[in-house]
Amino acid sequence: MKKLFVLAFLAIAAAASADTMDAFIDSLMARMTLTEKLGQMTQLPAGTIQTGAPQESEVGKLAKEGRLGSILNLKGAEEILALQRVAVEQSRLGIPLLVGMDVIHGYETLFPIPLGMASTWDIAAIEEAARIAATEATAGGIAWTFSPMVDIALDARWGRQAEGAGEDVFLGCQVARAMVRGYEKGPHPMLSCVKHFALYGAAESGRDYNTVDMSRLRMYNQYLPPYRAAVEEGAGSVMSSFNIVDGIPATANKWLLTDVLRDEWGFKGMVVSDYSSISEMTRHGLGSVRTNAVRALVAGTDMDMAAKAFAQLPDSVMPYIDRACRRILETKYRLGLFENPYRFGDPKRVKKDVYSKKHREAARRITAESFVLLKNEGGLLPLQQKGTIALIGPLVDSRSDVTGTWSFCQDVSKYETLHEGFERRLKGRARLLCAHGCNVLDNLATQREVASGHGLEPIPPVDSESALQEALSTARQADVVIMALGETAWMSGEGAARSDLSLPAPQKKLLHEVCAIGKPVVLLNFAGRATELSWEAAHVPAIMNVWYGSEVADALCDVLFGEVSPSGRLTVSMPKATGQEPLYYSILPTGRPMEDNDPRYQVFSTNYVDVTNGALYPFGYGLTYSRFEYGKPVLEGMTVSVPVTNTGGREATEVVQLYIHDRVATISRPRKELKGFERITLKAGESRQVSFTVTPELLGYYDSNLQWTVEPGEFDLMVGPDSRRLQSVTLNFQPQ
Ligand code: BGC
Repeated sequence: MKKLFVLAFLAIAAAASADTMDAFIDSLMARMTLTEKLGQMTQLPAGTIQTGAPQESEVGKLAKEGRLGSILNLKGAEEILALQRVAVEQSRLGIPLLVGMDVIHGYETLFPIPLGMASTWDIAAIEEAARIAATEATAGGIAWTFSPMVDIALDARWGRQAEGAGEDVFLGCQVARAMVRGYEKGPHPMLSCVKHFALYGAAESGRDYNTVDMSRLRMYNQYLPPYRAAVEEGAGSVMSSFNIVDGIPATANKWLLTDVLRDEWGFKGMVVSDYSSISEMTRHGLGSVRTNAVRALVAGTDMDMAAKAFAQLPDSVMPYIDRACRRILETKYRLGLFENPYRFGDPKRVKKDVYSKKHREAARRITAESFVLLKNEGGLLPLQQKGTIALIGPLVDSRSDVTGTWSFCQDVSKYETLHEGFERRLKGRARLLCAHGCNVLDNLATQREVASGHGLEPIPPVDSESALQEALSTARQADVVIMALGETAWMSGEGAARSDLSLPAPQKKLLHEVCAIGKPVVLLNFAGRATELSWEAAHVPAIMNVWYGSEVADALCDVLFGEVSPSGRLTVSMPKATGQEPLYYSILPTGRPMEDNDPRYQVFSTNYVDVTNGALYPFGYGLTYSRFEYGKPVLEGMTVSVPVTNTGGREATEVVQLYIHDRVATISRPRKELKGFERITLKAGESRQVSFTVTPELLGYYDSNLQWTVEPGEFDLMVGPDSRRLQSVTLNFQPQ
């Protein structure tokens, strides 16, 4: 009874506060001119004001005139507060600005890039990282992050695979929810932004911004669920994507932005376009900017990022202008900006919270969790901290690459290079020798541009022959060689598509020559996507996928020298050949199926003449420094249980995974789909029973009429350490 009373009271209080908000916004909007309304709907980059007085910059002038509602990507609490003061104290109505930024994997404390974060399969850690990012960013004046990116990315050629959780819909939903909770529900909450709505990750041939064309069936079953999960978790904003959906750019796609997002999913927040995507509609061949501004508005875009297109809207679409303006003002109201326009930006808290010891420790722990050990022949890892250790590769001395793709608020000077971190760790214990070894790419102009195009210091070019000789002589003096190779920070990320996923030619040559010396070699594969390591898998004894982040050097030492056992698992399938892309485990069977790794080429079957099917390293895969054995899975009712034992010599973490397959359905269903996972840490010799309860929800799917259906019948429930090594039981599901 008491509980009911409390709930009723809360409902009345919420309704009252909604009424208060409505009344406040009604009265504010009644005083606004068309220009001021369009101003609220306009967002501009504000980078330039860093060097000038805020009121003299373009954004300062616009803010003063009430012609700007939001800025993006300005760093510094003081600068932001100064600009906010212009908007609040010098504009006619004093409406505060909404300050946004791409806080993608941390503010100054940088967690691994999002693909690395997902590789932890540690949902609590992902939430914690987002919470820390919000704590730092809000201190720095940022109210709104353009994260999480939840685009499913099946094609590793697409550079932005780095920015999401990978290929899987179930994992993608969990990660999306965790990030929204972390940003929006911590002690220093900020507005999150689910992006890029929708289907951006399905760009044809992996080339960024390219055409997307997809059945609604596939959208509903595979691509839309993570956006929906984030919306259900309470994400306050959504960013539309650059690509077309059914021929119409997402930014002006009413079906997507209104029918699905609002009418079907009940989204109540605001929609922002992606950067200049409204003006880009002209290049899509859809006419003038003014026409497209109207289309975008009517479809459901509320705020125009960077295109200056909404400023051209005619008053003939006033009801839509009012709708968009209201949604933006509501967002500002809910963030508490009308109550206190200066609540974001606290120089005292910057000193205390930003890049604090506590945050860095969390980042170091989580970074170490994200590395995926792919191969460890003869137990080469962990290494002893003794003798002579060589650390070779063009990434060894790069400070700016440590930040990874999309880290705007970084302060590069604070971060350690791999060289510095290893030297500090090994001092007095082992001799460290470093060498640069080779250029990153054959094309030196591109090598420079991938960094300087993002305002980062490029890795300097070297003379190939002398760098190679120096590296070989370094390797010869060492007891063990660690090769730090792969992609620089911005070789993945926006606009960074690749047509060849193997190591770039100069790095391949270096690795081959170093391996030929015969010393034990550990390959650290820095990447922002699934890369192709076929030669390496056959010739290099130890390989680990690693990701950038501010604490990467420390975290690498923790894992390589054995303080921490690796526990990351792949969230993308690593191909045997780039030509297999898009490669993912949850494929449909086809009418002529072939098993992964079947060595026989078969005519008229779904296979290649030059490579066997399936991944080199499958989705869900990753090793530890110990060994886990699985007993027989047992099904009781709807619960499948499996005993898991750590049969190795040390404590380690296993990620136990559940997949299902619907044997007979009305439409063709995937061979397997992840439907559960649990990270368990077991001491040497310890066993644990891991159970997954299958709900009807987990067995369902959207049918050809886009109706959610759960069909009776037999399902394979498969448990194991990755998407390939699975044991199965049969569930006969009969709905009540
Ligand atoms: C990207 C978005 C990003 C925006 C603002 C665009 O180019 O696609 O992901 O949030 O820029 O920086």
